[in-house]
Amino acid sequence: MVIKMNNSQNIQWFPGHMAKTKRRISETLGIIDAVVEIRDARIPVSSRNPDLMGIIGNKPHIILLNKCDMADSAVTSKWIDYFKSKSIYSVAVDCKSGKGLNTFKATVKAVLADKLKENREKGLIGKPLRVMVVGIPNVGKSSFINRVAGNSRAKVENRPGVTKGNQWFTVDKELELLDTPGVLWPKFEDQTVGEHLAFTGAVADRILDTELLAMRLLELLIKFYPQMLKERFKLDEFFEEPYDNLCLLAEKRGMMIKGGEADTERASAMLLEEFRSCKLGRITLEVPNA
Ligand code: G4P
Repeated sequence: MVIKMNNSQNIQWFPGHMAKTKRRISETLGIIDAVVEIRDARIPVSSRNPDLMGIIGNKPHIILLNKCDMADSAVTSKWIDYFKSKSIYSVAVDCKSGKGLNTFKATVKAVLADKLKENREKGLIGKPLRVMVVGIPNVGKSSFINRVAGNSRAKVENRPGVTKGNQWFTVDKELELLDTPGVLWPKFEDQTVGEHLAFTGAVADRILDTELLAMRLLELLIKFYPQMLKERFKLDEFFEEPYDNLCLLAEKRGMMIKGGEADTERASAMLLEEFRSCKLGRITLEVPNA
């Protein structure tokens, strides 16, 4: 991934293969029955590709809210209700442990009930359902495919309209998965999206200013999870200024440098690590609009 920071902490990225990916997805739509889109349950907005809905049109669409083991389950439920209100099936899953995936096939069949009926009427009994799996890098696409299809990479066949090199996986005789034909990027040009991806570790934070990033995370945590923070760091109150709060965390953890100053760099790295490893608790940073 080619990304770099400019002075105002914006992540700039170079679309590279995005046009090619869009084209390959469009070309493949004709031979698949549904699209399974994987998002990160902690940041369901930032972990999407902004163009996907436009590319897939009215193809049946299922959203998997992955990494739900790390997300706030109450907010995950709100997201599921939200997607339902938009007539999109969504399921909370944890592709690391496999939690939530036992109903995946039933969900695909439910979403494609009309298609299955049509196949039966045409006498196409035994034709597997074909589902394309899409998601931005690091969202858990490989973990999902591994969990659901293991290593059962399907034999490469000549299928009309399918670009050579597409990777098919056989779940069983009723279901096949197609890995994204290309790489789908998130909306990096949006600063909030870039930051949220960096908080979760989807973007390497060596390209970002760690202190700025930690202060932005701290602001969000104070807004959404003040009690969790207070308990973790044994705090009574917060300051107005993000930097002062960072100093407070450093002091609480005894992270000081010569002269009795708070070591805000160490505190920043600590906060990001504790968030990413769920030591602070299960946290979701994006909530659906009411
Ligand atoms: P990708 O193909 O979309 O790029 O993602 P991949 O499956 O490689 O997953 C990226 C990271 O996210 C991996 O961690 C993976 O284990 C982790 N992951 C995927 N799904 C889940 C989930 O539901 N819950 C949790 N907690 N983690 C998940 P890694 O540290 O890069 O690799 P590893 O050390 O786990 O092998």
